[in-house]
Amino acid sequence: MSENIKPSKKIYSIDEARILAKKRLPKMFFDFVDGSAGDEKLSEINSFSLDQIRLEPKVLRNVEKRNLKKKFFEVEYNYPFGFAPMGMCNLTWPNADKMLAKESVYNNIPTCVSMASTTTLEKMYELSLGRSWLQLYIFQDENFVMELLERAEKIGYQVAIITVDVPIQFRRAKDDKNGFTVPFKIGPRQFFDFATHPIWSLSTLFSGIPKPMNYVTSKKGNKFVRSESRGSTDWETLKRIRSAWKGKLVVKGVMSPEDAIKIKEEGADAIQVSNHGGRQLESATSAIDALPLIRKILGKDFPLIFDSGIRSGGDIVRALAFGADYVMIGRPLMYGIGADGANGLRRILDIIKGELSTTLGLVGLTDINKINSDIIAEKFFKDLKY
Ligand SMILES: Cc1cc2nc3c(=O)[nH]c(=O)nc-3n(C[C@H](O)[C@H](O)[C@H](O)COP(=O)(O)O)c2cc1C
Repeated sequence: MSENIKPSKKIYSIDEARILAKKRLPKMFFDFVDGSAGDEKLSEINSFSLDQIRLEPKVLRNVEKRNLKKKFFEVEYNYPFGFAPMGMCNLTWPNADKMLAKESVYNNIPTCVSMASTTTLEKMYELSLGRSWLQLYIFQDENFVMELLERAEKIGYQVAIITVDVPIQFRRAKDDKNGFTVPFKIGPRQFFDFATHPIWSLSTLFSGIPKPMNYVTSKKGNKFVRSESRGSTDWETLKRIRSAWKGKLVVKGVMSPEDAIKIKEEGADAIQVSNHGGRQLESATSAIDALPLIRKILGKDFPLIFDSGIRSGGDIVRALAFGADYVMIGRPLMYGIGADGANGLRRILDIIKGELSTTLGLVGLTDINKINSDIIAEKFFKDLKY
């Protein structure tokens, strides 16, 4: 039962969880989670840019009771954040996907299920008691995408996300160096990596080698090829997906105001501003830099989700102040699981929720829905008022 999970006593910060995860996981899989594109700077720049946003403390307000509940797509969640889609999560620790699904129930928040998840979309929907959103990449073979959308619709999914920022995959040096491929090829280097992390290796052997289960269960027998090109995806593809999917459609991986306008016009229900956690265009700006520009051009009512670089509850408040309606967390979840399994994940979420609530009170607010750019301290940012 998820209620019996005790928050890990080994973790006091997200940085600490990262260091613990680095010790516990085979290098190849820690690097897969932690790594970024090219020179690896953009994921740091994402968090650094969030840090640069300073908030203005407000005093002598009664902030005893604070509301963190947030509605998105007409559903009330307990917090303004959910879990970003991440493929192959069970590589971090056996049953990582299930831990995420259970935490989504415990916290009443959405969990995004990657097309390349290591648990089927059906099982994730069941375990999260309907709180799953399905994420898809659009491959050359659109039939597979349509098959997954049909499966999702049949089981009851209400939200589909299409990720559009990986038409071509940027080089990831660490994955290349470690020989990370799906399915794995085990040579002497990988063998040494597993042998020096026996707890991970034995638990993974015992639970079964993680596989991209939506592919394994595909009736069309699609094979997962991580580097497969999605280069021909274009506006016509978006039109086809929009007309095939009757539920809410989120387009993820948008950084350009010009694209955002067009995506809105094509009938998307929300946009997810994201640079894929710095795992795609190495030379892109930080995602938070793009957020207020996109908010400004779309107007204040269009639903906007944000991810990339969130490392604290304070970062969630910053993203909301910059124009996001909802925020998704990526790597910190995997650091928590890698550091101490389900207990580690619980602890990471407790840290984030605590910081979120405290930050809200210290900027003089009692309701997360009241956050806007007024809480930002620097005059420079006031220019970005929306
Ligand atoms: C290990 C890992 C796997 C990911 N897999 C996917 C995926 O399958 N689909 C997707 O849209 N984004 C994927 N992402 C990107 C995340 O959804 C999200 O955009 C990113 O992690 C946010 O940045 P952050 O980790 O710095 O918070 C992945 C990220 C990581 C770290």
